[in-house]
Amino acid sequence: MRIIDLAHATEDHVLALPLFNDLGKILLSKGVKLKPSLVVKLQKMGYSKVYISDEFSEGEIEDVIKMEVRQRAITHLRKLSSFAKNQTSGSNQQFDTDLHIAKATISTIVDEIFTKKDIVIELLDLKTVEGYIYEHSINVMIHALVLGSSLGLNKVELDKLGMAAALHDIGFMFVPDEILKKRGSLTEEEYKEIKMHPIKGYEFLKTKTDLDPTVRIPTLQHHERYNGSGYPGITPYENLHLFSKIIGICDMFDAMTSTRPYRKSYPVAEVLEFIMGSGGTLFHPTLTKAFIQNINPYPMNTLVKLSDGSIGVVSKVNGRFFSRPIIKLIIDKDKRKVNKIVNLLENRTLVIQETVNKA
Ligand SMILES: [Fe+2]
Repeated sequence: MRIIDLAHATEDHVLALPLFNDLGKILLSKGVKLKPSLVVKLQKMGYSKVYISDEFSEGEIEDVIKMEVRQRAITHLRKLSSFAKNQTSGSNQQFDTDLHIAKATISTIVDEIFTKKDIVIELLDLKTVEGYIYEHSINVMIHALVLGSSLGLNKVELDKLGMAAALHDIGFMFVPDEILKKRGSLTEEEYKEIKMHPIKGYEFLKTKTDLDPTVRIPTLQHHERYNGSGYPGITPYENLHLFSKIIGICDMFDAMTSTRPYRKSYPVAEVLEFIMGSGGTLFHPTLTKAFIQNINPYPMNTLVKLSDGSIGVVSKVNGRFFSRPIIKLIIDKDKRKVNKIVNLLENRTLVIQETVNKA
């Protein structure tokens, strides 16, 4: 199993993971052949990458939580968000019940993460255009829980962090759709509107729910930055709640590794470099260090190009030295077929240049 650009998918590739529709039901099962008509359909839905199995990569990559559970969390968040959007319809009581159900699901996710130790995130979450905001929020939640757990937060704290992360962008429900779905750059006025989502989301949670303050505060604070940049510019970084700082990093990572209507996604390795470099400017350095230790940009079976032009498959990960795995070379630097093992932890002259679609 490896990730490729959907544009490179052929009938020789089969889906390595199922894809879900907006209602959380399986749209395409694992093992389905990627026919050209199917590729077009998926591109229309906003998918730009896909996990496939082929001759190079047959093994699986494990997700942090089960896909069904992830989908259930997305469905809960959709319900809560739709209440926020249509505040006039539906009773507060229904919203409270939905909130309670969402809390229970998040608590089971926390249990799953809490009992596993040393979790490494290896899968990229693939998003559709329509479901972006919900899929993004739940993925930020998973990243936040893994980071929080690695920082030593307890179960009660993680339950609250999970809820806070799931709801962090609820304020987007109060931003007009035409701004959120706009292709191309935003006008100054539109950007102002976007920058209101932390305040609007926070006010909604404060007036409509009795959530713990630590759950709603990150909604207000997740765009504040270490060097004072960011918005809404109400709270200095040193006074931010730890949850806001955690969610801030996870939010940026997930946004940068996702394809948006106005730009392509950045490669995971590049985003990790960027996050590392932003320690001391955008985020606290201790948090950026902890964050990057939990994510492997080159999981098993990833097809990669090395700095000398050779191409190979990641055949074993060297502990947490994620950028220096053991590689099974397929094509050497002179473009000849080979079958050779290179351990990048021992061969320091070679580095991984990028993930590639084909050999
Ligand atoms: Fe946000």
